[in-house]
Amino acid sequence: MADVEFEGLVQAAQEAMSAAYAPYSRYPVGAAALTDSGQVVTGCNVENASYGVGLCAECTLVGQLQLSGGGRIVAFVCVNSAGEIIMPCGRCRQLLNEFAAPSLRILTPRGVRSWEQVLPQPFGPADLEETH
Ligand code: THU
Repeated sequence: MADVEFEGLVQAAQEAMSAAYAPYSRYPVGAAALTDSGQVVTGCNVENASYGVGLCAECTLVGQLQLSGGGRIVAFVCVNSAGEIIMPCGRCRQLLNEFAAPSLRILTPRGVRSWEQVLPQPFGPADLEETH
């Protein structure tokens, strides 16, 4: 079963979720990604008294990715405190797209999906190159 390859990543996401700062929504989220160099990077949501500036787990994950040397994401998963797999929000799909390997696979509530299935026809770095 394809989900088995995500076991370690789900665990890493759950650990990250326990560090979340979510006093307003009370909806802690953890995210974990495997990079093309075999590194696991994680993130958790960090909310703010000014609600709209709160950070999703994916935001802190991409910061961690960059801080730890960068790379391409080959597998990704996001969890909530009920132990459920959740989908990255639309904005976070765009955030992740910047660092997505062509082979990126994501564990979703409906099983493993390709990145193309989750974010079809993305706007990305190549679009900017075309006009420069
Ligand atoms: N959240 C994430 O961290 N990632 C997502 O992809 C979905 C939503 C957070 C944002 C907010 O802190 C809480 O979940 C409730 O929306």
